[in-house]
Amino acid sequence: MARILVTGGTAGIGHAVIRQLIDLGHEVIGTSRHHQPNEGPVEWFTLDLSQAESVQSFCDSAAWNKPIDAIFNNAGFGLIAPIESASTEAIRQQFEANYFGTMAITQKAMEHFRQHDQGVLMVNTSIGGRMAFPYFGYYNATKHALEASYEALWYECLNSAIRIKIIEPGFTQTQFATHGMQMSGENSPHHEQGLAWLAKSMKEGTTATPPEDVAKVIISALFDRTNQLRYNAGKHSGSLLFLRKILPDSWFSKLVAMAVLRGQKSA
Ligand SMILES: NC(=O)c1ccc[n+]([C@@H]2O[C@H](COP(=O)([O-])OP(=O)(O)OC[C@H]3O[C@@H](n4cnc5c(N)ncnc54)[C@H](OP(=O)(O)O)[C@@H]3O)[C@@H](O)[C@H]2O)c1
Repeated sequence: MARILVTGGTAGIGHAVIRQLIDLGHEVIGTSRHHQPNEGPVEWFTLDLSQAESVQSFCDSAAWNKPIDAIFNNAGFGLIAPIESASTEAIRQQFEANYFGTMAITQKAMEHFRQHDQGVLMVNTSIGGRMAFPYFGYYNATKHALEASYEALWYECLNSAIRIKIIEPGFTQTQFATHGMQMSGENSPHHEQGLAWLAKSMKEGTTATPPEDVAKVIISALFDRTNQLRYNAGKHSGSLLFLRKILPDSWFSKLVAMAVLRGQKSA
């Protein structure tokens, strides 16, 4: 039995991972921005990644008093915003939660794992950590930043028993696309049609992957003894990542632009 920490464990992918870990008999620590009663099998702590004091008080909490075997840095949210009109405040908030908050937990996790000379540290980026989509540019930028940091960390841990992992899910059916998202700069006259198309496709997004399927890949990666860094999960994620790797930039961006522009015409 392992003791595993999952940030953002109340909904979506994090919740599915926690349910499956419990079913497998593991001890689970979960976090949420809101107080959760400690009456079930999960030990809950409060953590808001966008608030430095909340991150600090979680880093000082009793969660770290016993050895943790694996940490899944999952919590985060998506900002939908045209690049040209997003407010600086919204951009900073996006980076505060998804990047700076996650990296503060990463540093705490590394301190903990160095003391015990072992551990698995995984971050949830996205296929959008390897490519960018219209109106998700700032969100994608936070995930690119996490990808770079975890790739560098992977090298920095090669001479230890600490394993670094990145999971890159495709579009997953969670509350991320409904009330998990925030918007900024949406009144820009140049993007009315594009944002209407996006709202329509997200509302109809029942073809996305169930979070339970993504959770299965995450759990097998957490227990994978190899030094593999990247894993992908969900419909189309493998093929999109493959095309991104083999196609020249100009071909790949034409594919994305065609999908988006055709979609916008039919919105
Ligand atoms: N859904 C997708 O299509 C998709 C695809 C690729 C990657 N991802 C990534 O997967 C991760 C989980 O997303 P999800 O789809 O499962 O979304 P979700 O259903 O909205 O769940 C997000 C979780 O993160 C927590 N959370 C949100 N903002 C937070 C903050 N500022 N500080 C701390 N916790 C916060 C929420 O908990 P509380 O509300 O209880 O605080 C919730 O448990 C995110 O990092 C997202 O970028 C999602």
